[in-house]
Amino acid sequence: MIGQAQARVLALGMLLTATSVAFASEGNVPNTTASIDAGRALFANMCTACHGANGKAQVDVVSDATDLTEPLLYRNGSTDADIFKSIQKGAGTGMPAFGAAFKSEAEIGNLRNFIKSLWPAAQRPPVTK
Ligand code: HEC
Repeated sequence: MIGQAQARVLALGMLLTATSVAFASEGNVPNTTASIDAGRALFANMCTACHGANGKAQVDVVSDATDLTEPLLYRNGSTDADIFKSIQKGAGTGMPAFGAAFKSEAEIGNLRNFIKSLWPAAQRPPVTK
């Protein structure tokens, strides 16, 4: 017999496994309006202290955060995989690893879609819906 707490851990483990299978290619979430909106909400909660509400990092903080609106300024690469990794595992000395803070990798995908919606029009990927 397993206890209720163990059963819950087991269920969570299965959920996480299923989630990582579903989003195996690095939170590869389609660039929809819904995804961008979800990413915007996460960004407002978790990221604006350092990157600012508009992502430009013009905030009065100690950390030297990246202006996320300009991919040319990214110090750790601006491909989908690079951005995913920076959010999940952290970057440089000042960007914390947020991997453990998310319910699923899809949340990182949503954040990435939101961040890319801040890019100059010519570099922005098309929104699919
Ligand atoms: C404690 C301050 C802080 C918070 C909170 C923070 N960041 Fe950062 N972030 C930084 C700093 C500093 C860097 C620059 C790292 C470096 O020097 O390479 C950075 C870099 C990044 C990069 C990589 C840009 C590059 O230069 O390659 C991404 C993407 C990013 N942050 C996204 C986010 C997201 C999304 C969140 C919220 C989940 C977030 N950050 C929260 C401080 C922060």
